[in-house]
Amino acid sequence: MDRNEAVLRELNLYPLWQRRGAPAPIESAAAAFHSVSSVPLGKPSGQPVEPSKAASPVAGDSVAGEQRAVVVPMGVADKSREQLIGELDWPQLKAMVRDCTACRLRAGCTQTVFGVGDEQAEWLFVGEGPGADEDAQGEPFVGQAGKLLDNMLLAIKLRRGKNVYIANIVKCRPPNNRAPERDEIATCLPYLQRQIALIKPKLIVALGKTAATALLGHDAALGSLRGRLHDFSGIPLIITYHPAYLLRSPMEKAKAWQDLCLAADAMQKVQE
Ligand code: URA
Repeated sequence: MDRNEAVLRELNLYPLWQRRGAPAPIESAAAAFHSVSSVPLGKPSGQPVEPSKAASPVAGDSVAGEQRAVVVPMGVADKSREQLIGELDWPQLKAMVRDCTACRLRAGCTQTVFGVGDEQAEWLFVGEGPGADEDAQGEPFVGQAGKLLDNMLLAIKLRRGKNVYIANIVKCRPPNNRAPERDEIATCLPYLQRQIALIKPKLIVALGKTAATALLGHDAALGSLRGRLHDFSGIPLIITYHPAYLLRSPMEKAKAWQDLCLAADAMQKVQE
């Protein structure tokens, strides 16, 4: 069995389904993109996500590669926490996330999980929040769902860390694997927004409803959001199922494959 076949088998997509008379899946996804795309690429139209009003006093600084905490004065000038976060560089942002206690989640987790990958990646994949494995290892998507995500990446010829960045909506593991709550998301979202501003990805893939809702700024059934391009601050956004959901509902992997093809096609278009 060659590697491609192994990946497709993992995704429950082997032998590859193909519509009669239709081109290969990536091309048919391209056709779908042309017919259903509601947002022209590169043109912002998404609603800004409501920023958090919560304050966190700590940001970071980097000296010769070493991270040390520095105190960001609260209430200084008129700068909101979001504005302060919006000015941080990578080492400062990492330190601020590492030391963050701005919401209740930090008290119940082992460590924050910042994100991983190429900091100049064209591709950004966004999940919900760390689970037990991620909490233990400090890296997103390292458990079973992460293995499936790695295979999903391979299916479109991507590899973790190579032109790919992976992050979550919240950086701390919610207790008992519950979904993060609205205020927790609002408090943590400025970190992801800053990560996005620093990475400048060409395409974002939201994995699951929590990521979709947080990035879109409104709630809708995931099934109704799939299959077309959305927009996050001018960056094309594709919404697909969360790998953990796909592990529980393997029949949906075919739809996730369509979404990945749509994403690959959209990426090709923005690269042109
Ligand atoms: N699920 C997520 O949403 N993120 C992770 O990092 C792991 C599992």
